[in-house]
Amino acid sequence: MKRVRILGTGSYLPERVMTNADWARIVDTSDEWITTRTGIKERHFAADNEATSDLVARACLRAVDDAGLKPTDIDTLIVATVTPDTAYPSTANWTQKKMGIPPIPSFDLGAGCTGFLYGLIVAQGLLLSGMSQKMLVAGAEVLSRMINWEDRNTCVLFGDGAGAAVLTAEEGERGILSTFWGADGNLGDLLLQPAGGSAMPASEETVRRKKHTVHMAGNEIFKHAVLRMQESAMEALSRAGLSAEDVDLYIPHQANTRIIEATIKRAGIPREKTYINIDRIANISAGTIPIALDEARREGRLKENDNLLMTAFGAGLTWAGITVRM
Ligand SMILES: CC(C)(COP(=O)(O)OP(=O)(O)OC[C@H]1O[C@@H](n2cnc3c(N)ncnc32)[C@H](O)[C@@H]1OP(=O)(O)O)[C@@H](O)C(=O)NCCC(=O)NCCS
Repeated sequence: MKRVRILGTGSYLPERVMTNADWARIVDTSDEWITTRTGIKERHFAADNEATSDLVARACLRAVDDAGLKPTDIDTLIVATVTPDTAYPSTANWTQKKMGIPPIPSFDLGAGCTGFLYGLIVAQGLLLSGMSQKMLVAGAEVLSRMINWEDRNTCVLFGDGAGAAVLTAEEGERGILSTFWGADGNLGDLLLQPAGGSAMPASEETVRRKKHTVHMAGNEIFKHAVLRMQESAMEALSRAGLSAEDVDLYIPHQANTRIIEATIKRAGIPREKTYINIDRIANISAGTIPIALDEARREGRLKENDNLLMTAFGAGLTWAGITVRM
């Protein structure tokens, strides 16, 4: 039986580090509040001359190198992001140019923080059908440009970065074992960037009212996040014929340590088997899971034949769970 395998991973975090103390000099907040309410200590912010595709290109080059391939071996590129370089062309198109990849299908995918897992599921369809042979799926954000720097409720939560994976379909037991995904557009108003699209085009007023930034009902999102992350974990595991005890590593979306803790308690996954990096990089939306995946592999926390569980939740609302035998 053919399965979709991860051949290599890569990630890139911009150099500039923004600590909680830095935020406390800009808005009315404190290291103590941010740490206890979210688990975040610091985050990386892109330099003025870095756009999302610059981060993606670096992460993708590392992933291709890790897979022992060249950029020209890739035949399809998907970039999951909510902070594209431009409305069009896609960030994937800009990335293709920056990586020096000749013409191939490349496109963006928008599913909020769930974008990378949605990308893996789409890639699985393309690879198993034979439409693509070697794919790059990336998740990346430059959220520092899309937050309201005066709103303490949201500005402290996010960071910038990119992660990517090279995928192919191969015979064998290793690879993606199960997938589960969903969305509920009825809850879209809970987390959105209202302006800049056709519903609310950019105007002097939208800029003045900061409508081009993150708007979020934090408490409501929190409740849905815990439920959907748990559901995604349980569904993905049961579709693979696995139980919580079989999980060697769990990579949850990193939006809030309290969401992660509530999820693992309900799903029965021990904390020592849960990968947590929110303290160092905050919430990078679609970039979160691929960055954690790359870090976990490089730290030796994922070995051959380990069972990996990943779940995510985000704007849409969207959610997904995937299990992989590494
Ligand atoms: C945003 C979030 C951290 C807020 O935590 P919370 O414990 O729910 O806090 P509340 O929103 O109830 O706010 C409590 C108080 O803290 C204040 N507060 C909010 N942000 C603050 C900050 N950065 N510093 C200090 N105080 C802050 C609020 O103003 C409020 O004050 P008030 O009681 O005087 O009105 C939390 O709801 C969360 O993580 N939600 C999910 C976010 C998320 O996952 N988003 C992305 C989805 S992928």
